[in-house]
Amino acid sequence: MDVIDQLLSAATPVDGVDADGSTVLHEAAYSGRADSVRHLLAHGADPGRRDTRFGGTPLGWCRHRRHETGPVNGHGYGEQLLAQRAPTGIPWPQNIVALSGGIVRHVVGRFMRIDHRDSPAEGPRDSSVTDGPAVRRVAELYAQGVERQEWLNKPGYKLEHGMAFVFGLVGARARPLQDLLHGVWLGHPLHPVITDIPVGAWTAALVLDTVDMIAPRPAGFRQAAQMSVGLGVVGGIGGALTGLTDWQHTHDDARRAGMLHGALNAVALSLYGLSWRDRRRGRHVRARITSTLGYGLTIASSYLGGRLVFRHRVGVDHVDGRLTPREFVPVLTETELAEDSPTAVDCSGVPVVLIRHEGRISAFGGQCPHLGAPMAEGWLHRDQFVCPWHGSRFDLQTGAATSGPATSPLSSFQTRLRDGQIEIRRIPPAQLATTGQTAITEGAQRHES
Ligand code: FES
Repeated sequence: MDVIDQLLSAATPVDGVDADGSTVLHEAAYSGRADSVRHLLAHGADPGRRDTRFGGTPLGWCRHRRHETGPVNGHGYGEQLLAQRAPTGIPWPQNIVALSGGIVRHVVGRFMRIDHRDSPAEGPRDSSVTDGPAVRRVAELYAQGVERQEWLNKPGYKLEHGMAFVFGLVGARARPLQDLLHGVWLGHPLHPVITDIPVGAWTAALVLDTVDMIAPRPAGFRQAAQMSVGLGVVGGIGGALTGLTDWQHTHDDARRAGMLHGALNAVALSLYGLSWRDRRRGRHVRARITSTLGYGLTIASSYLGGRLVFRHRVGVDHVDGRLTPREFVPVLTETELAEDSPTAVDCSGVPVVLIRHEGRISAFGGQCPHLGAPMAEGWLHRDQFVCPWHGSRFDLQTGAATSGPATSPLSSFQTRLRDGQIEIRRIPPAQLATTGQTAITEGAQRHES
């Protein structure tokens, strides 16, 4: 109580709140400090004040803890004091609003599990959800909230197994089909290319609808909007197929974000499908409502799609982009490299894999461009180098991806033999693009001859 008196004499408000919106009276009641409760009430503390996190009054906090600890520890007396002072009747609308607010805050708090740690002893807090512009914080809360829903893992695995079953039905054509959908033939993931079609077409439809609503135009406007919606639906189906094919290899947070990304897109696609049908039947008001809803979902989903690429690096090239070493350096004695056995070496901090196949020595970067798997754990299959994680295959001559999910090539090095040593140097990507050359140079040829 001395502490309370000191704080009050220092002009600390008796109903000052902490980060959870609770007052010192809440804390005193929760701890069963009946003397402190009486003292605070005598100094005007509000017994009816609700904290902002759970929406509870000091009396509720006291009863909650009393339930746990029994009538001892002053909770019984504190409860009496608070029950006498607590407002007997909050008007029911306020009660309902306060209760609803408490429930919403509680549910949102559990959903987000927002990190409010401030103490250095507890480690750094996640400032992305507490600092910065409101737009960024809301976006971060949204994305993190999705990524933390671990209950999505189970349906995610079921979906993946379902996809494996469907691709299994296709038989020997499954791999070429998946390569087509991944974009191996394009040397770039196909999904982001295709998704531009629905986003662009549906944006055009939204603009046409809006202009027509503000000032009615000729019928051609509505037909153009209908065509844009239909084009977007076709592109959306392509986006769904390519996105699902790429998603099946993701993990953890990216996997969960990808699931919601796909689910939102599926709902948006359905809404646009309905909108297109309504437009054909002349129900333009309903068609515009459903397409506007679909557009909102598409934007929410697009944010997650961007996060998958820029935060989780799904679809980006994972190879080590360093251009070192620029000059030949020895990395292994020739006798240590066995035939058809990928061998990891470290070249000034750059992980490299050496392969001897049919007398020819190749050197590639140690990371798979798809998701960064350690290629030293891969193996050879029919003159191709296979990634150990998801089975991408790479040409042994050039490092180019011949089968997905990887769409980019392995980073490549030139090799030569000097005095029984295997030496390598990085091939600049521009040179690789023009010559496609990676393998043995003069030293090795001399050695072979
Ligand atoms: S990490 Fe996925 S194929 Fe290599």
